[in-house]
Amino acid sequence: VKIVGVGGAGIMLLDALNVAEFAGAGFVAINTDAASLSASSAAVKIHLETKLLRVLGTGGDPERGRALAEEQFATLKAACDGADVVLIISGLGGGAGSGICPVLARAAKETGALVLAFVTLPFVCEGNRRQQQARQGLEQLKSAADGVICLPNQKTFKLIDDNTSVLDAFRITGGLLIEGVRGVWRLLTRPGLIQIHFDDLCALVRDRHSESAFAFVEASGPARSREAVEKLLAHPLLDEGRDLAEADAGLVSLMGGKDLTMADVNRVMEQVGRCCERAQIIMGAAVDPEMKGRLSVTLIAARNTLTNAEMPATSPGN
Ligand code: GTP
Repeated sequence: VKIVGVGGAGIMLLDALNVAEFAGAGFVAINTDAASLSASSAAVKIHLETKLLRVLGTGGDPERGRALAEEQFATLKAACDGADVVLIISGLGGGAGSGICPVLARAAKETGALVLAFVTLPFVCEGNRRQQQARQGLEQLKSAADGVICLPNQKTFKLIDDNTSVLDAFRITGGLLIEGVRGVWRLLTRPGLIQIHFDDLCALVRDRHSESAFAFVEASGPARSREAVEKLLAHPLLDEGRDLAEADAGLVSLMGGKDLTMADVNRVMEQVGRCCERAQIIMGAAVDPEMKGRLSVTLIAARNTLTNAEMPATSPGN
């Protein structure tokens, strides 16, 4: 597995991943901005240089990001070479992430890897230009990658209040994206009692050209399965269950301690199944002795279309 952070936000999120937890993965950082690269702890750094805007990077223009990536297509391909799975992490809306990610996804696909992207979409208050750039980047990424797991920042408004700082708001979004990456990583690397095979994940995302919603919840105590289901159904990233109803494919991965009961697994799957009536669901369950008394559920719901409700409405006048 190679995990690739693209652009300023992508690299920051990559650096926030706990390297020990992702042992065995290759970390790659790609940007047009040398400063963010030099601060990154990624083992491989690719600087896409622009002579015209040496200091400004892309100048916020995805077309520049795209052109630079095309120019160094061979370098991007070499960076992905040898990986079965390439996970791309980026914040869409600026010039680097929105421009480079679709080209990178194509380069990774050409090496034969399965390509999954985890991206954020800008807050509405970031303005029309960023929204449009992000929307365009997302569409291009959807056609290039096997799957895109998409987190509109605006959805985190349900998790913050009037006193939440801008820094904390971004931190929350970033944290949620990292949970998504962690969930997929666990799926790929942890042996399960009921194993989700690599092929199952491929079948869920390959050639669907969809972007997917995801949620990660954790609960503890005797009523943990009930609590986990309640948290899932109320999860802001799943639009309080609406994303489940619209899903046409779903993946549910449960992890508990040695005390994980069949009734727990059954309860979660039954409820999720009831909510995703149209979806084909694959499930996996794994035991981690450190999870005694706890239950975590990672859910990925895939659809083929982007609903209006999911894209934040653009704000007027900016
Ligand atoms: P340019 O800087 O324009 O070359 O592109 P870039 O892709 O490097 O932009 P950057 O990653 O800085 O920003 C893209 C989007 O990511 C923004 O519009 C924000 O929505 C989001 N973003 C920016 N900074 C952060 C951050 O600190 N945390 C999180 N979670 N998201 C961020």
